[in-house]
Amino acid sequence: MTSPAPNHHASHPGFSGASGLFAAVSFLFGRDRAAELAIDVAALQPGERLVDVGCGPGVAVHHARSLGATAIGVDPAPVMLRVARARWRATPAVQWRLGTAEGLPVEDGWANVVWSLSTVHHWHDVDRSLAEARRVLAPGGRLVTIERRITDINADGSASHGWQRDQADSFAELCTRHGFVRPAVGEHTGKGTVLSVVAHAG
Ligand SMILES: C[S@@+](CC[C@H](N)C(=O)[O-])C[C@H]1O[C@@H](n2cnc3c(N)ncnc32)[C@H](O)[C@@H]1O
Repeated sequence: MTSPAPNHHASHPGFSGASGLFAAVSFLFGRDRAAELAIDVAALQPGERLVDVGCGPGVAVHHARSLGATAIGVDPAPVMLRVARARWRATPAVQWRLGTAEGLPVEDGWANVVWSLSTVHHWHDVDRSLAEARRVLAPGGRLVTIERRITDINADGSASHGWQRDQADSFAELCTRHGFVRPAVGEHTGKGTVLSVVAHAG
C-alpha cells in the first residue's frame, strides 16, 4: 500500500483579495491552543530562534515572542503578512518575510525550531520543503508540524483541511528520509483532536 500524501491541498490557489483578507482575520481567532501546543511539543526556550512556516496572521509567532524567542514568520500570501504586521505592530523584533516552505528566506543553520501549523497540507512540494527545513535548522534543532485530525480528506470545505493519522505517519517517515532523527507522532485531545509530528535535525 502506498503512503498517503501529507499535502492533499497542494493545489489550493492561495489567499488573496477580499476572501484572503477574511481568512487572514479569521485565523487571528481560535489559534492559541495550536500555538501553545507547538511551544510545548518543540520545547521552545527563551532566546531560541524560530521560523514559523506559513505563519498566516502570526498568532503563533506572537506566542513565541512572548516567551522570549526570536522569530521569523514566513508566508507566501502578502495579505497574511499585512494582517500580521498590523495586528502585532506592538510585538517587538519580529521579522515577517514573504516566502514559501519550498524556498525559505532564511540563512543556513539559523533556527533552533522550525514549525508549521495547519500548513503542511498546503505545501506544494513536501520533499523540497523538508530539505529547506533541514537546511535552516542548526544541529539539534527541531521540526514541528501540527494539523487538525480529520476523518475524510475528500470532505467538502474546511472539513478536509488537516490530516488523517496515516498522513501524520507518512510525514514522519518522510522526515526520516530527509535526515531527521527520532520522528514522533502525537495525538492531542481537547476541543477536537490535533496531530503533531516532531523530528530532530541530527
Ligand atoms: C490555514 S492557514 C494557517 C496559518 C497559521 N499557521 C495558523 O496556524 O493560524 C495556512 C497558511 O499556509 C500558507 N501556505 C500555503 N501554502 C504554503 C507554502 N507552500 N509554504 C508556506 N506557507 C504556505 C497560507 O498562505 C496560509 O497562511
